[in-house]
Amino acid sequence: MTKLRFVTILSALIGGALWACTGSDGAPGTPGAAGTAGAQGPSGGGGPAGSAGPQGMPGPSGVIDGGLPSSCLTPCHGFNGIVEQWKTSTHYATFVSNLGGTEVDTWTGPQACGNCHAIDGLSYRVAGNVGTVDGGAVANVKNGELNYKTPSGSTTESVYRGSAKVAAVTCVTCHEVSDATDPHRTGLAFVPGSFPLRTPSGKTDQVFLEKSPAVGTITGTQAGLRGTANTCIMCHKSRKDVTQYITASNTLTSPYWGPHEGPQADVYTGLGGYHYTGLTYGTSTHEAKLTCVDCHMPDITTNGNTPNHSFYAQISTCTASSCHTSAPNFDVDGGQSTVRAGLFLLQKALNSAGYLTRDAAGPYGALSSAALADSHFELDRTRAGGGDGGGPSVLTADQAGALYNYLIVARGSGLGVHNPKYTKQLIYDSYVAVVGSAPPGFGRPQ
Ligand code: HEC
Ligand code: HEC
Ligand code: HEC
Ligand code: HEC
Repeated sequence: MTKLRFVTILSALIGGALWACTGSDGAPGTPGAAGTAGAQGPSGGGGPAGSAGPQGMPGPSGVIDGGLPSSCLTPCHGFNGIVEQWKTSTHYATFVSNLGGTEVDTWTGPQACGNCHAIDGLSYRVAGNVGTVDGGAVANVKNGELNYKTPSGSTTESVYRGSAKVAAVTCVTCHEVSDATDPHRTGLAFVPGSFPLRTPSGKTDQVFLEKSPAVGTITGTQAGLRGTANTCIMCHKSRKDVTQYITASNTLTSPYWGPHEGPQADVYTGLGGYHYTGLTYGTSTHEAKLTCVDCHMPDITTNGNTPNHSFYAQISTCTASSCHTSAPNFDVDGGQSTVRAGLFLLQKALNSAGYLTRDAAGPYGALSSAALADSHFELDRTRAGGGDGGGPSVLTADQAGALYNYLIVARGSGLGVHNPKYTKQLIYDSYVAVVGSAPPGFGRPQ
């Protein structure tokens, strides 16, 4: 697979809308040029017509004497405002790192990538507008499901229907920006609730993880009532329907075998892993009480109580609750240290069996001693050809499930914070499946 390489057309992002912040400060400058309308989506073969592309981001107007009107500063364009917060996140870095890129070769043609990586991927998905390469239908598409069953019965992933060449997760990606909600067009000052999200986040709205309840029926699984975090779950999930993906015998053919980067939702919900028959899987207080948005976007009092848009987990969520009032860091009660120790054990077991590597291209070597010590578990890949370390080269469902579970925990990041109990259960059961005995010094929470 090609390394992700996205071209960025800066003008599409800043191709301005009319500048119209309210306030009496200074004489208005020359209005910016009108925003470029989004490209019309392609009409599908028998499918729904493509929806219009998103509007460009607002462009800077002419010089405004005396700086920006105060209504622009809060909560967005101030020195520490939402826009500057967002710029510290990798949602923005994707965009920057692609400046100067040459081509979006990874999603030209029918590709899945744009569903989560294109600037307008979410707007197509919530409109139910994804492509299938063979006329198959995707269940629950408006609620985030991506996999579907082909007419011949195999499982595959729907494709992006848009034509944007910009890879970024920006304001217009997550927020429903229209003539009615864009403050640059309405000219109205921000009032809480006036800048809605695209992904439904009402009391009964749920989005779907890929994992289906039964083999052969591809419907995904509802991720639970997560409110505004439904937005995050649309993208931060495995892309693989583990129920169909793992079969009675599994051959590791590619270093990309397994869940995609960022399967936080699969761990957080306690639903997305490979579950061993006869065992029950629990979930923790975190999952029951907190969502992605609570921990990653707590409100900032000095910015009109709007959520932190750096998107990085904040210790303030842990300490503000009555739960971990004096936690100095995220390793609360040594929880992350315990999970790290468990991951080292499982990593070693999978590596010894011949299932892990760091290389994206063959020949696929075992992990070096440096890689086995650096705790960058998320960098590990599947060793194509698998089993050269002594494990079987055709894996049983339980063995392949162990590798899958290691990868969702490693790539799901946070060392168990996303669901401490579930994470430890997956590590414990997966170790037993590969080694045949319990991991030394590592218990299974009930
Ligand atoms: C279900 C949504 C989804 C789809 C579809 C998807 N990705 Fe991703 N991808 C993500 C998320 C979320 C991350 C970030 C994970 C993290 O940092 O924890 C990511 C990260 C990546 C990264 C690592 C980026 C980095 O800076 O480290 C690459 C490379 C990548 N994706 C390539 C692809 C390619 C190629 C495709 C299509 C074949 C694709 N993705 C399809 C959601 C998706
Ligand atoms: C990855 C998704 C995502 C991106 C990107 C994003 N936001 Fe948000 N934003 C959210 C979420 C989630 C909330 C919380 C919504 C809630 O609590 O109702 C939010 C809330 C807000 C609010 C308060 C909304 C209201 O109506 O009260 C504003 C204003 C806002 N964002 C502006 C921005 C701006 C400006 C950008 C671009 C610099 C941006 N957001 C980028 C997800 C995102
Ligand atoms: C449209 C898809 C999409 C949505 C929606 C989305 N993300 Fe992301 N997110 C990504 C991608 C892609 C990356 C990786 C960018 C990169 O590394 O190049 C990422 C990266 C991140 C990172 C940094 C990861 C790292 O390893 O540095 C965090 C934290 C994050 N997202 C949290 C969130 C939260 C919280 C939400 C919900 C408010 C959210 N994201 C919604 C696609 C998305
Ligand atoms: C209980 C609080 C909590 C919840 C709920 C939560 N996270 Fe996290 N998340 C964390 C912590 C803590 C980390 C680890 C940060 C660190 O070690 O620096 C983390 C790490 C991450 C990372 C990697 C960031 C990085 O810099 O490597 C991503 C991406 C992420 N979370 C996304 C999500 C998504 C998406 C959800 C919802 C499905 C979610 N998180 C739910 C607390 C939480």
